Amino acid sequence: MVDVLLGLQWGDEGKGKIVDFLAKEYQIIARFQGGPNAGHTLYLDDKKIVLHTIPSGVFHPGMINLIGNGVVIDPVSFLEECNDIKSHGINLKACLKISERAHLILPSHKALDRASESAKGKDKIGSTLKGIGPTYMDKTGRNGLRIGDILKPDFKQRYQNLKQKHQQILKNMQAEDDIDQFEPAFFEAVEALKEYEIIAAEFWLNDQLQKGQKVLAEGAQGTMLDIDFGTYPFVTSSNTITAGLCTGLGIAPKWVNKVYGVSKAYCTRVGSGPFPSELLDATGEKLREIGKEFGATTGRPRRCGWIDLVALKYACMINGVTDLVLTKSDILDEMDSVGACTSYQIDRQEIKDFPYDIIETTVTPNYTYFPKWDKPLSTCERAQDIPRGFRDLIALIEQQTGVPVTYVSNGAGRSQLIHLV
Ligand code: GDP
Ligand code: IMO
Ligand code: MG
Repeated sequence: MVDVLLGLQWGDEGKGKIVDFLAKEYQIIARFQGGPNAGHTLYLDDKKIVLHTIPSGVFHPGMINLIGNGVVIDPVSFLEECNDIKSHGINLKACLKISERAHLILPSHKALDRASESAKGKDKIGSTLKGIGPTYMDKTGRNGLRIGDILKPDFKQRYQNLKQKHQQILKNMQAEDDIDQFEPAFFEAVEALKEYEIIAAEFWLNDQLQKGQKVLAEGAQGTMLDIDFGTYPFVTSSNTITAGLCTGLGIAPKWVNKVYGVSKAYCTRVGSGPFPSELLDATGEKLREIGKEFGATTGRPRRCGWIDLVALKYACMINGVTDLVLTKSDILDEMDSVGACTSYQIDRQEIKDFPYDIIETTVTPNYTYFPKWDKPLSTCERAQDIPRGFRDLIALIEQQTGVPVTYVSNGAGRSQLIHLV
């Protein structure tokens, strides 16, 4: 049986923390898409750890962590992460498996990412510049290199062939070719990568499922960044949604059980693109400041606004969410009033279904406001202690999405999570 946990907004919903919390119920945690563009933050006691490619179950003794075929791996970033995790006393080689079908991010993919973004000028996506887009392009363009290729005797030749293609593109774009300087670190990291267990993960995982092992699939990014259903073209290059776990791990839909959808109790976005409920005023700044809304991967300030129930309802539908998890609820304690966008006004019409042409359309959000809570959420430990105002917000979310809120996270710490029954 596989449960999946994924983001319902534009990423950074707090997925890492929730996976780390739920991990004890599972034997395997598996990443199925994305790559080092992800930044999943966990706290072990007071120690902050940010994971990029490695699943968030890695700090649980006995857990097997799998990097699935749908993930793209940068050996250099992977190695840095491994060293960081090992410094916490984890025997990573014993608890990590990597699909031989996962694609490799080369230094030239990162150069192409930079070139593509700078060519777009003011229309840039706001990519993390980790080479994600170009690597997935090579995958679907049938030119990519896979993790299994690093074990082949002619790997260096295959690398050179692809690099030369990339250099030609960079030349045509009149972009900087600084690839050579990154090669020594790349090949060193490739050697280190070989020491990990590289496997035919689809066979291994299906075998584990047959044996009754419980798997939690950990999403990266968020539904509104999905390549098909997000705010295209301001999206990432993979399927971030529930459907992505079948192609990203090699398992059939029949195994999928619960779908945990994670949403902040407000909303953020990092990078360019539409964000209807964005607050470009002092309230937005206050959310950023109190919520410490700066990217875990790039450090960029996150754009902030109220929760968007039009987008959330759409995300619940696309993913088949069975359980909602609301994070960062404690941040709302500080706000004088709290808004929730319940519909969009487009050309004098009230819209409740997330529109296709969101990029070219002027959207005016309609809000419901809740007065300041009468007591703080940050110190709550039980469902019955949740302040009335936040309870009303939960009721609105449940009514509009049709999905129950199962957990409320009220702090970054591992145990700061309230189970609603
Ligand atoms: P992810 O990419 O979805 O895993 O999320 P990130 O780690 O990029 O960003 C979420 C941030 O919020 C991290 O700094 C977490 O430590 C923090 N966080 C998660 N849940 C809560 C919460 O309930 N309250 C507060 N204050 N911080 C939280
Ligand atoms: P986690 O897993 C937030 C955003 C980038 C950019 C767009 C495309 O931590 O939630 P890419 O590098 O994929 O080409 O960037 O997607 N983005 C994220 N935003 N959280 C993430 O991951 C993100 N991964 C990519 O900012 O707008
Ligand atoms: Mg993140």
